[in-house]
Amino acid sequence: NNDLIILGMETSCDETAVSIVRNGSEILSNIVASQIESHKRFGGVVPEIASRHHVEQITLVIEEALSQADVTYEEIDAIAVTEGPGLVGALLIGVNAAKAISFAHDIPLVGVHHIAGHIYANQLVDNLEFPLLALVVSGGHTELVLMREHGHFEVIGETRDDAAGEAYDKVARTLNLPYPGGPHIDRLATEGNAAAVKLPRAWIEGTYDFSFSGLKSAVINTVHNAEQRGEVIRPEDLAASFQESVVEVLVSKTVEAAEQYQVKQVVLAGGVAANKGLRTALMDKFKKMNSVKLTIPPLALCTDNAAMIAAAGTIFFEKGQRSRLDLNGNPGLDI
Ligand code: KG4
Ligand code: ZN
Repeated sequence: NNDLIILGMETSCDETAVSIVRNGSEILSNIVASQIESHKRFGGVVPEIASRHHVEQITLVIEEALSQADVTYEEIDAIAVTEGPGLVGALLIGVNAAKAISFAHDIPLVGVHHIAGHIYANQLVDNLEFPLLALVVSGGHTELVLMREHGHFEVIGETRDDAAGEAYDKVARTLNLPYPGGPHIDRLATEGNAAAVKLPRAWIEGTYDFSFSGLKSAVINTVHNAEQRGEVIRPEDLAASFQESVVEVLVSKTVEAAEQYQVKQVVLAGGVAANKGLRTALMDKFKKMNSVKLTIPPLALCTDNAAMIAAAGTIFFEKGQRSRLDLNGNPGLDI
């Protein structure tokens, strides 16, 4: 039969993930072993601990993914693995596991950029139409990526300092919320009044670049100044105001770029895509723009997973891209 069955692997940060995807869009299995509990008490991901967990988990997660999909190595057409960017020690576990399987079972190997994976998570829920604009918002990245066709990525704007998720996590730490803080701020924001606290917006006129470190510092200063004056700011209000500032800039630049480049589709990608405020604001805006289709993946496909790597890997494989057995993890890989 002509089905294309791809095994995807993702170990760039703190999730050990393996997935089997048929024909680039049909998930047969999608296993994610999260390490969040192990990193929580350190307030962030500890690279050495992440690598050790990946080593312990990877073979179990591979077996689970094969067994849930009811697929054997003989039926797999290619192995797609995240080659970067990410934590080098974490990447190496996935890359080496993928190379070992590729060599032992004589299965082609395809290296995938992590952000390409996040963008292609959208192919698991919808057809992609070009030109396409992706708003990529994760713990390590905040980018507007223009795609004129499959497999071609043009970064038209990016953060000059902190990524959106990083800002969320740092603000959460200021409010003594557990790691990762994004979901906690998101939840608090729904109960707060954004107008109660004034925070800046980093527009950086004339570019699609972003900046979140000023906003983050403004939150920290607001909290400290209030403490010194013996005042209390409701964390809900602070969260709501912070979220409004982040979402306003993200949405407005996305709309502007979508219009300038006359895109057919806008997709949301990365862990911060799970943010309810962002999802709602984007849906409201693009409901009014009939010429643009907006796609937002379900929460489980927004945060790190391997189905998105398999989906991207399917396209790259079809285009003839192959990686050799000297494939290396590359923490600073460009898209
Ligand atoms: O894409 P991801 O799983 O890992 C990276 O590649 O970085 O993104 C993780 C980031 C974290 O910073 C986390 O706080 C953030 O996504 N995040 C959220 C939400 N859920 C996860 N940020 C805001 N609101 C959320 N609901
Ligand atoms: Zn990610």
